[in-house]
Parts: sequence; C-alpha cells; structure tokens
Amino acid sequence: MVITIEDDFQFLVRKISKSSGIILTGYRDTYLRRRIDLRMKALGIDNYAMYSRLLEKDQNELKETINAITVNVTEFMRDKTPFMFFREELLPSIMERKKKSQSNLVRFWSAACSNGEEPYSIGICSKEVLPEDWSVSIYATDIDENCLKRASQGLYSKDQLKNLDPSILQKYFEPSGSDFKVRDIKKLLIRFKKHDLTSEPPISKHFDAVFCRNVMIYFNEKQKVKMLNDFYNSLSDGGYLIIGRSETLPAEIRELFTPVSVREKIFKKV
Ligand SMILES: C[S@@+](CC[C@H](N)C(=O)[O-])C[C@H]1O[C@@H](n2cnc3c(N)ncnc32)[C@H](O)[C@@H]1O
Repeated sequence: MVITIEDDFQFLVRKISKSSGIILTGYRDTYLRRRIDLRMKALGIDNYAMYSRLLEKDQNELKETINAITVNVTEFMRDKTPFMFFREELLPSIMERKKKSQSNLVRFWSAACSNGEEPYSIGICSKEVLPEDWSVSIYATDIDENCLKRASQGLYSKDQLKNLDPSILQKYFEPSGSDFKVRDIKKLLIRFKKHDLTSEPPISKHFDAVFCRNVMIYFNEKQKVKMLNDFYNSLSDGGYLIIGRSETLPAEIRELFTPVSVREKIFKKV
C-alpha cells in the first residue's frame, strides 16, 4: 500500500489530537494545514511524517504545535460597536428582566477569552451600567493556559489599552512599571478557567450572555453546530449570544437564536 502525503497529514492530526485531547477534526481543514505548515516551516521540516516523529521525541513541541494552532489576537472592546451595543442596549434589558425575577446577579461567559481583554471589557461595561449593589460573575475560558495566566495577571501595555477612553483607563487601571494593571481585580469577579470548546461540555448554565468571538472562524460546520448547541443550553431563557464580526450562524442553528442586531452579530436565545 502506498502511503500518501494526505495519509501522513491525517496520522499527524490524529497524533496531536490524541496527545493534547483537543479534537482537531473540529477545525477547518485548510486552517489546520496552514498553521501546522507554518510551524514546520519555522523548524525547517517539510514533511508530515518527519514532524510526527519529532512530536514523539519532544514533549515540548506538542505545546508549540498547539500554540501554532491557537491564534491569540485580541483587543479591549474589540470592534468597539458590539461593546457599545452591549452597554447601551443589552445590559439595561438584562437588568429589567432580572428585576422581574428579583435578582441582582448577572452572569456572563467569555468563551475563548485569549489574554483577557474580552472578559475585562465585559466587566468594565457591566460596572459602568449596573448599580453598585448588583453582582457580576464572569467565566473566562480558553484552551491556552499561557493566555489564561497572562489574563489573570491583568497586566497590559499602554498600546494594548489604546481602545479605552482615558477616563475608563484611569478608573479601572493603575500604573505598574511601564505597564498598567487592572485595579481591584477581584471586584470584577472574573473566573479564569481552562476549557476546550471542542471536547468539553458547557461550563455552566443560566448565563445572561455568552461572548464567543473570533474562534468559530477556525472550526468546521460540525464543530460550530456542536458548540452553538452547547451555548444554547448554557444560556438562560432570553440570554444573548455575541459572535465575531466576520462570523455567521450555520443554517441548522438559526431556529435556536433570533437576531437582535444583525450588524453587531448579537442573537437572543429563542
Ligand atoms: C483570536 S482569539 C479571540 C479572542 C477573543 N474572543 C476576541 O474576540 O478578541 C481565539 C482564541 O480561541 C482560543 N481557542 C482556540 N481553539 C480553542 C478551543 N478548542 N477551545 C477554547 N478556546 C480555543 C485560542 O487559544 C485563542 O485565545
């Protein structure tokens, strides 16, 4: 039997999946190839079989492969207008709903939170809108432990904070050497936790909103449907789903969510 390049690639993917526990078959094939090829190129390796052998010998390389697959680009208030919509429309409407059930606790999930800019943005918007005696609980999860470590430190350079208004910067950050650190980090009640969207069940239930932005683009249709069903189950009735600007909901899932803002890619659990 002739072993093709495709066989070697599929063997490599199975190997990485088995060693890391990440279901790589959930990622888009072209994306996966591009990222693995880039890593191999950096090492001067030009065939998948050789890279599989390297992974067998070198435990550290597995981490490097996962790093290559997980792109961590993020920003505070990324794309600005979805966060304005969250602040001006969603938070007041969540508050109204909560009042009816005599609750003053709101719960959010930032799924694939990268270095923390997204959950801190959610926390800041919430603190700006909700009354003092209301509590906000935010789960911030990612597959990448290095990101989670950085996120929980809450330390950012001036450039990383460029999207924030000076008044918000002053209110929520304090200088720390040449960087800025989130002030009163505990008060924002963010729980950072490792969680893999491909293989693990949803983190919890009854979220008022789930932010899952700019990760679905890496997944294939089957994985998207699985993940969106999970979000459906983890949202409270009428809870919101916020996805990335360039992302769309697969047709199979559309009956579960109704659009709130097509432009901002915000949906409501039906
Ligand atoms: C481009 S960042 C998006 C960060 C943030 N949500 C935003 O929109 O700015 C994508 C993040 O998805 C994470 N990620 C990739 N695959 C994942 C998976 N299977 N489960 C959880 N997180 C994953 C990466 O580690 C990375 O931090």
